[in-house]
Amino acid sequence: MEKLFDLRGKVALVTGGSRGLGRVMAEGFAHHGADVVIASRKLEACEEVASSIRQSTGRRAIGVGAHVGRWSELEQLVETCYQEFGSIDILVNNAGMSPVYDTVDSVTEELFDKVLDVNLKGPFRLAALVGTRMAALNGGSIINISSVGAIHPRPSTLPYAAAKAGLNAITVGLAHAFGPAVRVNAIMAGTFMTDVSSAWDPDMFAQRARGFALERGGQPDEILGSALYLASEASSYTTGSLLTVDGGQP
Ligand SMILES: NC(=O)c1ccc[n+]([C@@H]2O[C@H](COP(=O)([O-])OP(=O)(O)OC[C@H]3O[C@@H](n4cnc5c(N)ncnc54)[C@H](OP(=O)(O)O)[C@@H]3O)[C@@H](O)[C@H]2O)c1
Repeated sequence: MEKLFDLRGKVALVTGGSRGLGRVMAEGFAHHGADVVIASRKLEACEEVASSIRQSTGRRAIGVGAHVGRWSELEQLVETCYQEFGSIDILVNNAGMSPVYDTVDSVTEELFDKVLDVNLKGPFRLAALVGTRMAALNGGSIINISSVGAIHPRPSTLPYAAAKAGLNAITVGLAHAFGPAVRVNAIMAGTFMTDVSSAWDPDMFAQRARGFALERGGQPDEILGSALYLASEASSYTTGSLLTVDGGQP
């Protein structure tokens, strides 16, 4: 029973692990025994987090620079993980972004493509690469970080909502493609107070949050319980599921 959330002997790759929710998950997995690979565009930031994890947990941790929208960089990232660790047991497709725009007709083709590349095209390719190897080797768990925006699309983030809806579809489909050895699930996150929240008007957000069941935004470390559940044996009969973690957003 005490082994339910134990990740000792596992290797986790977390994209966007240098900040925000990704950093919380990478640190949390290491505290539960996993070795971790932290990937984002800024290699130095990833290496700083990896160094801090090594010091605080004694686990192996490395940083790798990779732009998740570029498939060639993802292929290189996967090769690096297998060369360094010989395995990936947990993949968290967490890197994501949602640039602001004024009106839907001001959305450029460039913005639309970039949002789809980072939030959908890259996670699909990385899951395809890693899931195939997981299925052929020791099995594993893939966690896609989606958004409640996928099912409650807002006019201000439509390309992002569409990308995350696609990510939900991929989650269910890949659970079938890679089962029974590999489980694939998504966390549909609500509003979390990471760096992205600094762009929001605090008063407007406070007013909106009063409509949430928990009447507040989430703190970044409140993502960890759900991620740990999906990464570990605690969720051994859970796959193709879309878990909402949003404090009860209407
Ligand atoms: N915070 C929320 O309210 C919220 C709500 C719903 C869903 N989510 C989802 O949760 C995930 C994490 O969000 P967050 O709030 O933690 O974001 P964040 O604080 O902005 O951090 C984003 C992370 O992704 C990396 N990243 C961004 N673009 C990248 C790219 N092209 N290639 C590789 N790495 C990239 C960033 O590092 P670099 O800058 O070094 O690349 C950083 O590590 C995202 O998928 C987001 O859509 C968040």
